[in-house]
Amino acid sequence: MTVKDWTYRWEKDQTQFHMSKIHPMLAKHIDALTEGKKRLRFFVPLCGKTVDMRWLAEQGHEVIGLEAVEKGCREFFVEQKIPYSVKDLQNCKGKIFKATDDKKIQLYCCDFFDLERLSLGTFDCIWDRGSFVAVAVKERKRYLCILYTVFFIVH
Ligand SMILES: C[S@@+](CC[C@H](N)C(=O)[O-])C[C@H]1O[C@@H](n2cnc3c(N)ncnc32)[C@H](O)[C@@H]1O
Repeated sequence: MTVKDWTYRWEKDQTQFHMSKIHPMLAKHIDALTEGKKRLRFFVPLCGKTVDMRWLAEQGHEVIGLEAVEKGCREFFVEQKIPYSVKDLQNCKGKIFKATDDKKIQLYCCDFFDLERLSLGTFDCIWDRGSFVAVAVKERKRYLCILYTVFFIVH
């Protein structure tokens, strides 16, 4: 599916993938993922409006999400009742949504394939759920290469 297809799905509220509770695998493996550390920097690619981001922030982590569809970014903050600001991105087409309360949550609203132009810095952990199947088959290798780059900057 392309970003255009996903935008259509969001417009029609075809977001059945969305879960109202934290993903059980994240809850189960969080200690192994973080080695029990707090205040880590998490990357959540193709984040949609997952409540996992709020939960991670409430655990004391910084969360950087990336979602191409603006409606998804906006719905995250509205549904979670988190006040936010929005600004245009400098280096690529898109916007950045930032929590304006004490939670460290930022959502980059842009195409994942523009990631290299964003200079997001380094991450301690990546939480990726449902992304691989969300990109077109012919783009999946490129998706993994970009994600591995983020991963190898981390480690
Ligand atoms: C299957 S959903 C998973 C959402 C989220 N990870 C979750 O667990 O609920 C895939 C999401 O990826 C977004 N998406 C698809 N292609 C994208 C791209 N190229 N760049 C950024 N976001 C994209 C879609 O809009 C959709 O919200």
